[in-house]
Amino acid sequence: MRPFQHLFGIAELDREQIDYLVNLGHSFIDINRRPLKKAPTLRGKTIINLFFENSTRTRTSFELAGKRLSADVINISASTSATSKGESLLDTGMTLAAMQPHVLVIRHSVSGTCQFLAEYLGDTSVVNAGDGAHEHPTQILTDLLTLKQTWDSMEGKIITMVGDIAHSRVARSHLLAAKKLGYTMRIVAPKTLLPAEIERYGCEVYHDFDAALPGSDAVYMLRMQTERMTDNCSIPSIREYHEAYGLNRKRLNAAGSDTLVLHPGPMNRGVEIATDVADSVNSHILSQVEHGVAIRMAVLAALCGGSNEQEPGDET
Ligand code: NCD
Repeated sequence: MRPFQHLFGIAELDREQIDYLVNLGHSFIDINRRPLKKAPTLRGKTIINLFFENSTRTRTSFELAGKRLSADVINISASTSATSKGESLLDTGMTLAAMQPHVLVIRHSVSGTCQFLAEYLGDTSVVNAGDGAHEHPTQILTDLLTLKQTWDSMEGKIITMVGDIAHSRVARSHLLAAKKLGYTMRIVAPKTLLPAEIERYGCEVYHDFDAALPGSDAVYMLRMQTERMTDNCSIPSIREYHEAYGLNRKRLNAAGSDTLVLHPGPMNRGVEIATDVADSVNSHILSQVEHGVAIRMAVLAALCGGSNEQEPGDET
């Protein structure tokens, strides 16, 4: 398998690497469920989380992942970094790299930030924790690990993804992964929330949610990413949006009793998803959150050349 130096997106990974990370993530699930959540895998490693956008799940899970694997973890958010004093992103990156961390985890509103910075950061590995509307590789790996708990393989499955595809980096990562892993992405959105080049991904495109439901193995709901809406592409009203594109009980029933419900969070209950659906037995939304920690452990371990090889007595 090709070794990992950085994790920018699904675009750079082949199927073997994706499977490797998901399987390694699977092996880390147990550590997070133990009373003593500690393994020595990343002892002596330093990880810096540099977040220029708000985050609850991704930031916390990267921090927990590093700490549970015994790394030293530093968190920096935009408001406390020197970029708020006029320092350029590149200078901030090079300053942090000069302190010799092993991994720099970056979330930024500009697509391509991680690839750009990585060129200047020497041996420091860079992980993309979400760059603009480009990619969010650790979220899709989290989704794949969650689906793996129910499905043997992604091959032949249909994921119906609904909502603001245009601004979603999670959507882009799934569109790229579908081809590599053999599943179908069924995209449902009003024209105003679709990226211009959507057909290029070889996905199915629907504007009518109800027409897309039959045969869906999973329904994946997305939030409207208003922070990225610079153009006038919003929707007539929340009520109308919920009626046309919200996942309610009736729609879930139409999809089928085995259909899984996913959402990367944060959820807007009553907008893209009804509360009873979000809390239903079909919902795997909190499993996604749990698996997010295991996947970030796997990504950090893979980048630092480690594996899940803790000894039984290593839990201290
Ligand atoms: C997503 C993101 O930030 O891209 N969420 C996440 O990382 N858990 C999706 C979103 O913000 O809506």
